Amino acid sequence: MAKRVSYKKLGLVNTREMFKNAMAGGYAIPAYNFNNMEQLQAIIKGCSQSQSPVILQVSKGARDYANQTLLRYMALGAVEMMKQMGNPIPIALHLDHGDSFELAKSCIDSGFSSVMIDGSHLPFAENVKLTKKVVKYAHKYDVTVEGELGVLAGIEDEVSSEHTHYTKPEEVEEFVSKTGVDSLAISIGTSHGAYKFKLKPGESVPPLRFDILEEVEKRLPGFPIVLHGASSVLPQYVDLINQFGGKMDNAVGIPEEQLRQAARSAVCKINIDSDGRLVFTAIIRKVFSEKPGEFDPRKYLGPAREELITMIVRKNQDVLGSAGKA
Ligand code: G3H
Ligand code: 13P
Ligand code: ZN
Repeated sequence: MAKRVSYKKLGLVNTREMFKNAMAGGYAIPAYNFNNMEQLQAIIKGCSQSQSPVILQVSKGARDYANQTLLRYMALGAVEMMKQMGNPIPIALHLDHGDSFELAKSCIDSGFSSVMIDGSHLPFAENVKLTKKVVKYAHKYDVTVEGELGVLAGIEDEVSSEHTHYTKPEEVEEFVSKTGVDSLAISIGTSHGAYKFKLKPGESVPPLRFDILEEVEKRLPGFPIVLHGASSVLPQYVDLINQFGGKMDNAVGIPEEQLRQAARSAVCKINIDSDGRLVFTAIIRKVFSEKPGEFDPRKYLGPAREELITMIVRKNQDVLGSAGKA
């Protein structure tokens, strides 16, 4: 087995201090997913420019796609690049939707500073058992752990659910005290992907269940809450995709004002993946359509990367409220 690498040696931090500050300051830490170099560069540059702490998220799919060893060195490279840019920010490297103890352990051993163990599809007692096992191992190395209660509609890695199962507030205290998790993802109406709601003509997006969030906050005062599936599916990028030959009908996300409201509460981490994917797809489609002879990947990935930086800076400032908090 390869030697265990501590995230501290890589210049990363866990999420404990980040969440403490976010809770006190009424903002949320952005958790952006990455799968390739250009996305990673954009996240680091966007967060460094806006002086926001950041959680770099790697899904199981991303690990399979990019290779776990390469990812570790990419994260190390990202930390070094950030230092050279002269605007240091706290960076956590987080496993998104870990589905087994072995996967979480392998991430911890290879330098992740935070892991999610997602047992939300399991019966309560099994979710507790799995989560507790991960917490016990992670805390030995000061790695923070996110658990989940309630199931989001949409696709969570390989687990998909057609319907939302809202988090039951009456379960949260027992889950947190029995498992020892550092943060809890809850289901209040967000969902993964670019098609979050099936709206009939004239219907608007239903509001998030802030009543559930408030009840959870009452039962777990000062405890960090996480929102998955929190992309807003920005219409400007969906429109560009459709204008340049794509077909994304009825793509709709969570309105940004609602996320801003959530970020002011106990929600300390907001997960954003789909919005970044849409930016990349929109810009690459535009370049291909306007310059059909272009075949240098730098000429279409570069503009996509620039646009992602712009989106991230704006989100940190206007939605998460994390800009200037590094
Ligand atoms: O929650 C899901 C994330 O958007 C990751 O998606 O498994 O396709 O990388 P992925
Ligand atoms: P979105 O699909 O809304 O971006 O959600 C991402 C996410 O929750 C990653 O865990
Ligand atoms: Zn998620």
